[in-house]
Amino acid sequence: MLKKKKAYVVAVVGATGAVGNEMVATLEQREFPVERLRLFASERSEGKALEFEGSEIPVETLKEDTFKGIDIALFSAGAERSKIWAPVAAQSGCVVVDNSSQWRMDPGVPLVVPEVNSRDLKWHKGIIANPNCSTIQMVVVLKPIHDAARIRRVVVTTFQSVSGTGKKAMDELLQQTTDLLNFREVKCNVYPHQIAFNCLPHIDKFLENGYTKEEMKMVDETKKIMGDNSIRVTATTVRVPVFRGHSESINIETEKKMSADDARGVLSAAPGIVVFDVPEKNVYPLAIEVSGKDETYVGRIREDESIENGLNLWIVADNLRKGAALNAVQIAEKLSEMA
Ligand SMILES: NC(=O)c1ccc[n+]([C@@H]2O[C@H](COP(=O)([O-])OP(=O)(O)OC[C@H]3O[C@@H](n4cnc5c(N)ncnc54)[C@H](OP(=O)(O)O)[C@@H]3O)[C@@H](O)[C@H]2O)c1
Repeated sequence: MLKKKKAYVVAVVGATGAVGNEMVATLEQREFPVERLRLFASERSEGKALEFEGSEIPVETLKEDTFKGIDIALFSAGAERSKIWAPVAAQSGCVVVDNSSQWRMDPGVPLVVPEVNSRDLKWHKGIIANPNCSTIQMVVVLKPIHDAARIRRVVVTTFQSVSGTGKKAMDELLQQTTDLLNFREVKCNVYPHQIAFNCLPHIDKFLENGYTKEEMKMVDETKKIMGDNSIRVTATTVRVPVFRGHSESINIETEKKMSADDARGVLSAAPGIVVFDVPEKNVYPLAIEVSGKDETYVGRIREDESIENGLNLWIVADNLRKGAALNAVQIAEKLSEMA
């Protein structure tokens, strides 16, 4: 458990990556009480430094005794690193908030979106998991609707930006776009197909049931975060040539009737949500506009006229912020409040 302090020694593991960079920026922007910040990455980053609150902080590599004296560690260095190093950190008395998929479905590890289930933080044993980016923005919106009208089933299709894959994928989209516009041959290293000017219905590995791992993360993580196994979820996840911001088309079937106006009211009153829905003025959430924003934006709110109790929504959030770094920092803030 985190001990109450005026300021904490905080570590970011994977600090040089797309999410890690955003974690450092988010800690500064939200004025998290940091006594000292330690940054970690692979040996490739030795000698690098990142700026935090006006100082240059050197990037270090991980060692067995690294976590002694560190209060909170935000991990975003991939599942393999989290598997090895999160328990090492927890044993040193450090509380880990892990962004990878490694611990999310472990029954002994809470999976937390503060707007939805911050009370699950009470039972952590040193590791807390940050959910998948596409799941986070969906459950922020599902929770108030579930509380008001009980959700039976969700059908979601995602339009996920390349920053969800990390820095190399952002470079690949830029390189392919430049190459195509200059009539040069396109090379594919990160994705199996060209991502520039294309959509790939394939995120993470394919499983035996024909779904991808990303799709099943949305199914399983939603039930765990919402604490309700009865919610049926089916997902199709698509990678699109957008740098930052995930968009989702969501169809929801509820037990109780909820009109589009009721949904607008419930969502407007819920934490972390901005209703952005004036279709006659072309107002609806766009990935390029929510980039850098903290809230989850909802628009195109309308009733599904093909079923009795159905809603259609369009949900957009910045995957690097609410989908990763911000959610992790909000967890750290809650832990500090609860200490
Ligand atoms: N991108 C998203 O929207 C998103 C959302 C939710 C969760 N996540 C998860 O967050 C994690 C990081 O994603 P990302 O998009 O930031 O990836 P990324 O841009 O590829 O960054 C990976 C980071 O991990 C570091 N790293 C690699 N091997 C390491 C090692 N042996 N020891 C220490 N650090 C090591 C890298 O350091 P070097 O620079 O030295 O290689 C880099 O800082 C992944 O688990 C991902 O699934 C990402």
